[in-house]
Amino acid sequence: MNIKEQIAQILAESAKKFGVEEVDKLVVSFSNRPELCDFQTNFAMIVCKTLGQKPIDVANQLVENVAKDSGFDFSVAMPGFINIVVKDKTLAEYAEFVSADKNCGIEQVSNPRTILFDYGGANVAKELHVGHLRSPIVGEALKRLHIAMGNKTISDVHLGDFGLQMGLTILQLHLDGYIDKFFEEGADIKNLPLTNVTLDVLNEEYPKASKRKDVDEEFKKTADEYTLFVQRHKEPYWTIYNKIRALSVAEIEKNYTLLNTEFDYYYGESDADPAIEETVQMFVDQGLARESEGALVVDVAREGEHIPIPKKSEDEPQRYKNPMPPAIIKKYNGGDLYATTDIATILIRNREFNPDEIVYITDNRQSGHFEQVFRCSKLAGISPESQKLTHVGFGTMNGKDGKPFKTRAGGVVKYKDVVDMLVESAEQKLSSNGIVGDKELARRIGVGAMKFGDLSNTVVKDYVFDVDKFLAFDGKTGPYIQYTIARINSILAKASAENGKVEIENADERNIVLAVLKLNSSYQLCYDSYSMNSLCLSAFDLASAFSTFYNNHRILSEANENKKASMLKLCELVKKCLEKALHTLGIDSVEKM
Ligand code: ARG
Repeated sequence: MNIKEQIAQILAESAKKFGVEEVDKLVVSFSNRPELCDFQTNFAMIVCKTLGQKPIDVANQLVENVAKDSGFDFSVAMPGFINIVVKDKTLAEYAEFVSADKNCGIEQVSNPRTILFDYGGANVAKELHVGHLRSPIVGEALKRLHIAMGNKTISDVHLGDFGLQMGLTILQLHLDGYIDKFFEEGADIKNLPLTNVTLDVLNEEYPKASKRKDVDEEFKKTADEYTLFVQRHKEPYWTIYNKIRALSVAEIEKNYTLLNTEFDYYYGESDADPAIEETVQMFVDQGLARESEGALVVDVAREGEHIPIPKKSEDEPQRYKNPMPPAIIKKYNGGDLYATTDIATILIRNREFNPDEIVYITDNRQSGHFEQVFRCSKLAGISPESQKLTHVGFGTMNGKDGKPFKTRAGGVVKYKDVVDMLVESAEQKLSSNGIVGDKELARRIGVGAMKFGDLSNTVVKDYVFDVDKFLAFDGKTGPYIQYTIARINSILAKASAENGKVEIENADERNIVLAVLKLNSSYQLCYDSYSMNSLCLSAFDLASAFSTFYNNHRILSEANENKKASMLKLCELVKKCLEKALHTLGIDSVEKM
């Protein structure tokens, strides 16, 4: 049951009665003047030109031709708007429909597609930091949104596990004497344990090596070599690498679980390895690659798109300046690059899953990289024309000073510390409400607060990380929604009423169902924009509509049994829709708080 579509249908039929054919231009939207009406359309103002009539006259004719029992009240307003009020009876029907619907009234896509979501993207051997929070938050929510709307999804964490950090870490461990045994003559490397190499050691060794590579050319070269050895499965580097990887991935998994983030596949860059040679060859064979300073590059700039670089000779192809430089697909030393593994990964994914779309969720500073990867994949025919490749770039999480979130000493904030901080603050809040010692409840609230705080912003924008604001139990926050559900749970637990029928009898009840309508149409807005902010906002609006209703009416002491049953059914409806919204956002509901 799609109310907007019903209205559009009614008006379209009316329009056809007096010869208006352009019904494809008929758009019904939520009213921006809710005190006047629930929906509106400017259709009359659009078609009046073809009809050669005044917009107000067209609007009047459209409205007059509508059948009286349509379930809606139509009226006109200058200069030619049509205002629509949904009748109480229609709202009650809608409430019943959503209550019974297994999809909670969320419009399903007409042609379900298979979408692969690539998010998370943690790097093996590097400790997760604040910059790694948004990808699992945004990615998980977008994936769940697609599931809620009927698409088939595949999620892949795409670990960074084949880059320079691996060479750097192994080299540093080697220099610091952690892995000497692996290099001894006749060592049984497969069965040697990585003694003394713990997560804490990795968290020290990688940053140490990373700093040194910036000032020590020789060191950097050796690290490049080590990286290449790993990429070429050379022993003992390969075995050491796999042991480090296992250690690191276990920790990464834990961190994602903490944020309710689940992946179908824990694949990484290294899983593209079997397809790398073939991928590079595809570019070579099709004449798409050229040599440049010992590396192999693909020109992806499009003609006219950027400033042309003057040619040195007549037969040189035209090249263009930034911002779309050539993609490097092979390094000077033959090593693989980030772009190469990403292109080869598309080749593999298309063979394994054949998705209609691949959605990548990373920091928006990687947009250039993805544009190069997408263009290369299309050029070489690795991604078929029909396949959609989408990069969802998100903004930075800033501190209250508006600059990227840092520790007090100016250092990088660890991922785990951010989560701990939220959970601890949630615990404090709960204890001031008399709930002590419920760790899982505190996690649900703390993590929910952070996720909602993040997702209620447009995804591309930077936002300010503010624990107190996120955790307020009475604001546009995750805890507020969780609290509304908990409150309904307590009403329902105290109530004893037969399963009733919804009757809409006052403005507060109307507003609840209208808020459900808005909430359900926000799924499509999120779907179209790859951003969850409208779902957050409309979930909040529904929770506030409920709060007004709750404050103005006595539910439990209502004497009229039918009325009471109707109100309880509305409570259940709100609970169902809010739980669905939270679940889609990747936030847990709570029984009580
Ligand atoms: N590991 C990457 C990083 O830390 C993110 C991976 C994103 N996904 C991809 N297919 N490139 O920046």
